[in-house]
Amino acid sequence: PTAMLVRGSILHFLADPGEACNTAAWEYFADGALLIEDGLVRRCGPWAEVLENLPEVIRDAARYRDYTGKLIVPGFVDTHTHYAQMKVMGSFGRELLDWLENYTYPAEIAFEDETLASSTASFFLDRLLAHGTTTASVFATVHAHSVDAFFFEAERRKLRMLCGKVLMDRHCPQALRDSPESAWRESSALINRWHGKGRLAYSVSPRFAPTSSPEQLAVAGDLFRSRPDMHLQSHLSENWRELEWVGELFPGRRDYLDVYEHYGLLGRGAIYGHGIHLSPDEKQRLAQSAAAIAFCPSSNLFLGSGFFHYAATAEASVQVGLASDVGAGTSLSMLRTMAAAHTVSQAQHQPLSPWRAWYLATLGGAQALALDQFVGNFTAGKEADFVVLDGRRIPELRFRLDCAESLAEELFALMLLGDERCVAATHILGERVFCAE
Ligand code: GUN
Ligand code: FE
Repeated sequence: PTAMLVRGSILHFLADPGEACNTAAWEYFADGALLIEDGLVRRCGPWAEVLENLPEVIRDAARYRDYTGKLIVPGFVDTHTHYAQMKVMGSFGRELLDWLENYTYPAEIAFEDETLASSTASFFLDRLLAHGTTTASVFATVHAHSVDAFFFEAERRKLRMLCGKVLMDRHCPQALRDSPESAWRESSALINRWHGKGRLAYSVSPRFAPTSSPEQLAVAGDLFRSRPDMHLQSHLSENWRELEWVGELFPGRRDYLDVYEHYGLLGRGAIYGHGIHLSPDEKQRLAQSAAAIAFCPSSNLFLGSGFFHYAATAEASVQVGLASDVGAGTSLSMLRTMAAAHTVSQAQHQPLSPWRAWYLATLGGAQALALDQFVGNFTAGKEADFVVLDGRRIPELRFRLDCAESLAEELFALMLLGDERCVAATHILGERVFCAE
């Protein structure tokens, strides 16, 4: 077996620290060790202790990486993003429905070109790694080859990734329309080709209720139930006009969530972007179903969609993950996303603690995607995807860190002032795949 020893300050979560910042929810080792064997975490603990209990054969054979003075955390999990929308990031102006028509749909139509899909997938994944994100739930486009392109590039990089073909058969440009039949046929073929291959898993991806016919939503439900470990991603309750539209299109359903409920699109493994304007009753039903919400703060601010009520949603026991939602999101950086999540929470007088923010960006995201048996923290047997952060790479942040008096202060400064410039290295299954020069 190939063994590897990594040294540095290590932080990881065992559970949601909650409002009360439960100290049993995380482990921090100022001088820590991560022992990795065959790409999996074998031990995580204080350096001296791990070394002492290490069989000599392993110690002698192990490769060694010293990140002393840097912070090692599990690779960031981005629970909702669109790789075909890299090009529309920062497109000026409007709210959701106009933004879709004017920028997003044209960008997705361009993905008819297989070469563009391949080169964008490659670029997107390299950029994710440079931002310290190692797992993501990713929308492709309506074109089946856009999923092939993404999974091909993800598999080459040995990444744990979710992706799916967008399903949309109405209220969108002709060039982006499929049908209930082709949705079933193409998704099934993609599932057979990719689901469970290496670290990849398929996510059934109806865009959102307005762009799928009732027949297609029923197909999405059948696909979601076609395997016990299937995933699903969509959008829910993001924008007031969207809400009104859903009410008109589905007059028989009692609210937005009921549309997805009715077609069997809820349950563990399902995650919905946004969920800003949910009623208490919808939150309760979401929690009961074990479906999750992707909190997309930079996107929600950019499109003027509103403030996600994190405190109330978490309080209702809904599983929440953090997400960039690029291209409506304004950065791939989960550090910036944590800062935006804090800003939005603070604006509602319910500030997000650094503990909760760092949990959300790692284990919380893995739980929201139902991938926590594989990634999200450093318990024995998990896959050794991690990011090495060095806040001192940013001069202003170095200044702040020099006078931080506690770990909580350091973590808070890092998420408020930090971004991808802090990423010193990214490792996948123990191997270094990104290194800042
Ligand atoms: N709702 C439906 N499609 C989209 C999308 O591509 N981005 C966002 N932010 N919301 C959506
Ligand atoms: Fe989205």
